[in-house]
Amino acid sequence: MSVSVTQAVRGSFFDLTVTVTDPQQLPEHARYIEDGLLLLNGGEIVSLQSWEEGRQRLADESRVIDYRGKLIVPGFVDTHIHYPQTEMIGAFGEQLLEWLQQYTFPVESQYHCPEHSAKMSAFFLHQLLSNGTTTALVFGTVHPQSVDALFSAAEALNMRLIAGKVMMDRNAPDYLTETPEESYQQTRKLIERWHNHGRLSYALTPRFAPTSSPALLEKVRQLKAEYPDTWLHTHLSENPQEIEWVKALFPAHDGYLDVYHQYQLTGRRSVFAHCLHLEEKEWDCLHHTDSAAAFCPTSNLFLGSGLFNLKTCWEKGVKLGIGTDVGAGTTFSMLKTLGEAYKVGQLQHYKLAACEAFYHATLGGAQALDLQDRIGNFMPGKEADFVVLDPAVSALQQMRHGNSRDIWEKLFVLMTLGDDRNIACTWVNGQCVWQQKAEVKAA
Ligand code: GUN
Ligand code: ZN
Repeated sequence: MSVSVTQAVRGSFFDLTVTVTDPQQLPEHARYIEDGLLLLNGGEIVSLQSWEEGRQRLADESRVIDYRGKLIVPGFVDTHIHYPQTEMIGAFGEQLLEWLQQYTFPVESQYHCPEHSAKMSAFFLHQLLSNGTTTALVFGTVHPQSVDALFSAAEALNMRLIAGKVMMDRNAPDYLTETPEESYQQTRKLIERWHNHGRLSYALTPRFAPTSSPALLEKVRQLKAEYPDTWLHTHLSENPQEIEWVKALFPAHDGYLDVYHQYQLTGRRSVFAHCLHLEEKEWDCLHHTDSAAAFCPTSNLFLGSGLFNLKTCWEKGVKLGIGTDVGAGTTFSMLKTLGEAYKVGQLQHYKLAACEAFYHATLGGAQALDLQDRIGNFMPGKEADFVVLDPAVSALQQMRHGNSRDIWEKLFVLMTLGDDRNIACTWVNGQCVWQQKAEVKAA
């Protein structure tokens, strides 16, 4: 039986074919096809083969989209980002708790306005796509209209996106707090409207334990019980003062993660941003509950929060994705974020090889979001989200790319020197939805 093919894409391809539990296993599951052919049926991947093998399935070779000279990888997965903080990226001088009070909360207050939310949603999604990010797990603000705007904009682009309205009822300005009941009702409406709506999914989003009363966390627990296939997205163990504060606010609990765990908020679709200062029992709890951590290197360095321990994360068997965490994070670029992740590794004598880094940014991130069956590589049946990288867009990159000996070194140079200039095109659901201006050719 022949599967119908609607588009064919030629170029060099790199992906990781399976999820692993040990980074040593990654190179054997890496696939690099220097001259490859990707066949699509609408928004679905049919096959990835060498050009010589694949061309036999083509009815008309002249219709192949030719990206020879470019490197095509699965779309990047950003497992933690705040869209309303786009406009405050690079806010000077403060660490987490003061940074929230001084910069973040005032900016987030603007998202009561649907027009502002719509304008910033469009801007935000454009930033994601122009950096090769095709899926993200996104914080809105406490205002339901912030999330309506983001989901509407993502729907128009057919992006796979998970997002949620912030839930918070204390330790924040009055203009951003709500009652637990309001939070419950508004979240419920949003779930009914957007969850499993095309490629969109809903994440219950209590901001973090310090802005959540026990009554609010009880509402989150209730929502997760009512809608068990929703995601849970929050912050965990980012900053030492934050951790002490949680212990003071929740003295009956056995540490920070235990607050979420006792409200049944750990699990296969739970993603905890940061996880920098975890106790051993907390790593074990993340593992046993199949929860995921989001490693946000540029944010952790920018706010002076600490260093994520990749080695422990692997040893403890905790699922991991990479997050830009804009606007505490300083870039939308996953390439730059991987470069910073490498430096965080260096400070702890951990060598983050390119193969592992690209795994975290693609299939590993997909697994952290429990989306490994839908996105993350070029296996047949997956959704056709990918990014076409131009590996050498400056004199320095041309030289360094040119003297790289193999694909590993080329990928490492990309994560060290690369940024949005290297994103030639971004494809979502089998459609090219973004391309560099210089790349625009007559159809
Ligand atoms: N913890 C609670 N809220 C936030 C936030 O907006 N950004 C970061 N980085 N950490 C948080
Ligand atoms: Zn965050």
